[in-house]
Amino acid sequence: MALNCFPLGCKEAVQRQVDYISSQPKLNNGPKRVLVLGASSGFGLASRIEAAFGAGADTLGVSFERGPSEHRPGSAGWYNNLYFREIAEAHGLYAKNLVGDAFSPSMREQVLNTIRSDFGGKVDLVVYSLATGVRPDQDNGNLIRSAIKPVGAPYTGLTLNIEKEQLEAITLEPASLQEIDSTIKVMGGEDWADWIELLNHHEMLADGFKTVAYSYVGPESTQAIYHKGTLGHAKKDLQYHAEMMHEWLKPLGGDAWVAVCKALVTKASVFIPGLSPYVMALFKVTKEMGLHEGCIEQMCRLFATQLYAPAGPTLDSERMIRMDDWELRDDVQLQVNQLLAEMTPENFKELVDYQGLRQDFMQLNGFDFGNIDYEQK
Ligand code: NAI
Repeated sequence: MALNCFPLGCKEAVQRQVDYISSQPKLNNGPKRVLVLGASSGFGLASRIEAAFGAGADTLGVSFERGPSEHRPGSAGWYNNLYFREIAEAHGLYAKNLVGDAFSPSMREQVLNTIRSDFGGKVDLVVYSLATGVRPDQDNGNLIRSAIKPVGAPYTGLTLNIEKEQLEAITLEPASLQEIDSTIKVMGGEDWADWIELLNHHEMLADGFKTVAYSYVGPESTQAIYHKGTLGHAKKDLQYHAEMMHEWLKPLGGDAWVAVCKALVTKASVFIPGLSPYVMALFKVTKEMGLHEGCIEQMCRLFATQLYAPAGPTLDSERMIRMDDWELRDDVQLQVNQLLAEMTPENFKELVDYQGLRQDFMQLNGFDFGNIDYEQK
């Protein structure tokens, strides 16, 4: 069912996020012209909603989504784009969606043209929130594929099979050097920096320009599969490019940051093998402690207390913004580790927040909203 999508549920998901941001204090010095790469779901969509409804920004969103056909509806992100624009325009905000491959020269051209014609030639903020498993090789057009694998040693653990609603044992073999390299190419910082360089080349970076991309670090219990695995290598590359851009943007009064976010259920994260048991345990603990955040709450806090805080962001020793501060609290992790030690394929539905993860997963595609009549066409 969740491979399909229910458009009115997607509208509800966007509207709920808009309502949340509308209920929060406005950003006084927020961005006015914002480009979001990866705007149709997860953190990118939440960033866009925060920029538009928290700061009154005009937004240009780029995403890779499927439109409807005769036989099936479009992808959820397709409808998220459509309804975001509808709701933004109803509030007098400019919103344009460009759907296609963000890695391609033709998409770059479309973005440049739109910034020229609709943004007066400048952007204040670029959010880089792509999550993808492939990108075309610029040299020969072949597809480069990322691999989500551990590095150095095999990983054995449990993972959620959401279709079968079962917790299953998995073993992942360590990645080859080629696989590490490809993952860095697909999910690292090269494309982010290329975009910023392109915009700079066309003199499109406004005074005080900012750019942010999203990363994950996680606690020890997830590091074999994430931080020390292929994805972690790609995220280190993201930070490496942020460092280069930091120096390079200084003369323009601009800056580039990586924001380390918390683990959440998104279209991209739900299929990371081995991560779901941790996410279910984390949700259980943070919900009980009143510390749970979804994408929209994270992005609201990021913009208000970090990116557009009067004194600027607070950075860790590697110059990263830590939005995973609540997730990584000792008291949270202590309880999460206890739950992980107790979790089995027999008890997980009761022990941890399986229902919460499942509901988030269903809602990504517009299902499982209590106030929607799913019988209507
Ligand atoms: P998501 O799957 O919800 O969103 C990905 C976006 O990228 C979508 O808008 C999709 O259309 C777009 N996209 C993918 N390939 C594209 C292409 N070739 N051209 C144009 N658009 C393309 O993913 P999510 O989870 O919001 O991830 C965004 C970033 O946040 C990623 O860098 C991810 O690693 C990071 N992150 C995610 C966490 C999580 O728990 N979900 C935690 C911390 C960081």
